[in-house]
Amino acid sequence: MPHQNTIAVILAAGKGTRMHSDKPKVLQSLLGETMLGLVAHAAKGAAAQVLTVVGHGVDQVRKAHPELAEGFVLQERQLGTGHALQVAWDRVRASGATHCLVLNGDTPLVTPEAVEDLLETTRLGSDLAFISAVLPEAGAYGRVLRGSAGEVTGIVEAKDYDPGRDGPDTGEVNTGLFCLNIAAMENFLFSITDANRAGELYITDLVALAVEAGLRVHALRREDAGTLMGINSPLELAQAEETLRADIVARLLSSGAILHQSASIVVGPFAVVEPGAELTGPCRVLGATRISRGARVGAFCQLTDSIIAPGCEVREFSHLESAHLEAGAIAGPYARLRPGALLMENARVGNFVEMKKAVLGPGAKANHLTYLGDAAIGAGANIGAGTITCNYDGVNKHKTDIGAGAFIGSNTALVAPVRVGENTIVGAGSVITKDVPDGALGIARARQSNLPGRSKKP
Ligand code: UD1
Ligand code: CA
Repeated sequence: MPHQNTIAVILAAGKGTRMHSDKPKVLQSLLGETMLGLVAHAAKGAAAQVLTVVGHGVDQVRKAHPELAEGFVLQERQLGTGHALQVAWDRVRASGATHCLVLNGDTPLVTPEAVEDLLETTRLGSDLAFISAVLPEAGAYGRVLRGSAGEVTGIVEAKDYDPGRDGPDTGEVNTGLFCLNIAAMENFLFSITDANRAGELYITDLVALAVEAGLRVHALRREDAGTLMGINSPLELAQAEETLRADIVARLLSSGAILHQSASIVVGPFAVVEPGAELTGPCRVLGATRISRGARVGAFCQLTDSIIAPGCEVREFSHLESAHLEAGAIAGPYARLRPGALLMENARVGNFVEMKKAVLGPGAKANHLTYLGDAAIGAGANIGAGTITCNYDGVNKHKTDIGAGAFIGSNTALVAPVRVGENTIVGAGSVITKDVPDGALGIARARQSNLPGRSKKP
């Protein structure tokens, strides 16, 4: 449950120069989710309100995350992480919260558990708490400094770190995840300076200021904190993505999902694969997809934001996006189901069938080489091979209605808007431009002529 007295601030205004990409760094993705989306998910679990400091590529960020836009705070020039928090501070204070959680937008593996532990430290009376990690290679991360009794005395950024002055490198680094007592920080946030190698305002300078003022400062050293480190390069992104993938697969296996060739299965962090669902790799199950118990997904499939009910089969090489299969439906191999495709109970689409905003009623079938767009197909209808709904006239989209029990012969073009009634038959090769009444046989094709002896064959 989010804490009512806590507001979260995600720092996401930076460019991410080391990614060598035009995309703002926080929009780089892991298993189909942006770094910002993952960080925001952890923030929302902990805090009643979430602010996001944005700057570089703000339009792209807004487009990718409209749900966060209300909490956007614009940092026009990126003068450092401390400056980013300063820019958000008016809204932090106005929120009425007592504590402020600060998350770096480039730490996608931050877990709700880590955030919860940090908030717990704060409840025990800390004015400033942050999570630290001990790394074999401290690299470019900020070093945590401790006094003789092990108490935290400050954080020094890698560029400014001087072993002569700051003591030997212990490998303990700042993850960038802070929890601040808002009233206590008030006096310090605006006294940090840019007197450092980067000429930036560092949030990390708050630590020494708070210690000097006698406030209660804690560094929570977490064993698993290596995964909380920021991602600054394509290599780090790939490593984090693989860590996350393997964690999700391991969790699914222990919960009872049946995964064949699990090393090549990708399940996104927000997707649900129920115990008893069966997946064969390589495949990708992304977004808010849900695969129910007893459903099967074959190799080389990609499913995004799709719902697969119990007993369904998504056969090999199928591609689903915002599609919905009700119980017992079968798609593929080689099916392409685009947004708004709905297969009702026991409906079936076969190879090279594309559907978009189209409903296939219970038990209806379209087994081969078909396009169904902006269409409603009644129960038990049979759509022959090569049927095309001509839904677009070059300007507008129009609807095709096919009644229950209809039989559409192969290679039929249905020029929408058009209605083919219940229990009708449409002759193969027809171009249907007029409605076919219930129970009728509709044929619209040239008659065949046979010209004797004209085959030119001996
Ligand atoms: C930061 C920490 C460092 C820590 C590391 C952990 C500081 C000064 N340093 O370093 O101690 O070990 O994270 O990953 O905080 N941002 C803004 N506005 C700015 C600058 C940055 O919003 O003006 C955002 C970035 O988009 C990013 C986050 O703040 O999401 C961290 O900034 P980044 O430049 O990646 O900091 P690091 O050098 O990695
Ligand atoms: Ca970083």
